[in-house]
Amino acid sequence: MEHSIEKAAAMIKNAENVIALTGAGISVESGIPDFRSAGGLWDKYDPAVYATINSFIRMPEKVWEMLFDMVDLKMGAKPNPGHLALADLESMGHLGAIITQNIDNLHQEAGNRNVIEYHGNVSRLQCIKCGTLYGLDEFDLSKKVPPRCADCDRILKPTVIFFGEAIPYDAQVRSQTLASKADLIIVVGTSAVVYPAASIPMIAKDSGARVIEFNIEETPLTHYLTDILVLGSAGKTLPELVGILRRMN
Ligand code: APR
Repeated sequence: MEHSIEKAAAMIKNAENVIALTGAGISVESGIPDFRSAGGLWDKYDPAVYATINSFIRMPEKVWEMLFDMVDLKMGAKPNPGHLALADLESMGHLGAIITQNIDNLHQEAGNRNVIEYHGNVSRLQCIKCGTLYGLDEFDLSKKVPPRCADCDRILKPTVIFFGEAIPYDAQVRSQTLASKADLIIVVGTSAVVYPAASIPMIAKDSGARVIEFNIEETPLTHYLTDILVLGSAGKTLPELVGILRRMN
């Protein structure tokens, strides 16, 4: 693993236009379980029941059972050394943007300024009837009562992308543009099984970019388009990467 981090650092140092795609794995060390590892959120909540837009329309109270859990996890979480290392990479000039599948806002809280929220953000709510937007902090969720729209009394939906919903157009276009112009993409903590997010490394690779994966295990990308796989927890491997880059500069 030590050798792969050294190789990754050299590749990043020589790259001109680096982006990152992150998934739930980078937030595990902040106390937020991922989805598909053993004990992950999809072990507890069947996504077909709790995480589709149709489920939300038909039974919003049931979906909010999961959402209250997600909000509690997010409220108790803060950026871990992996998030902070990506903020260091940005301030060192080695990372232009993060495209994140995560909804926990931890990259922004770590200090990254150019973050594209591909699957939205749990801190914003919207009425799916009249479109009015609200902040999560406008409501007292401690009583586990789903928040309602002040105008039409409908149960509000966090601006997270459920299965069956389209990726926000702006996020989709910006991500594809960034991927097509990158000469290196760092893929951190994603199983790379959910589309269209998982197509972002492919767009980058097709445009000539190199691919570095940081994960605790192999993914479908690893033998298909990854140039370097750095095995280990992101909270450990990413700070090590930054340390090597600092010694190179
Ligand atoms: N460090 C690095 N990688 C890790 C760590 C860690 N500490 N812990 C777990 N991982 C890896 C797992 O090995 C796995 O490959 O993170 C990945 C998490 O995969 P998923 O749980 O599938 O999460 P993600 O890839 O973000 O899911 C994509 O699916 O359910 C939807 O909308 C949801 O955004 C999510 C999308």
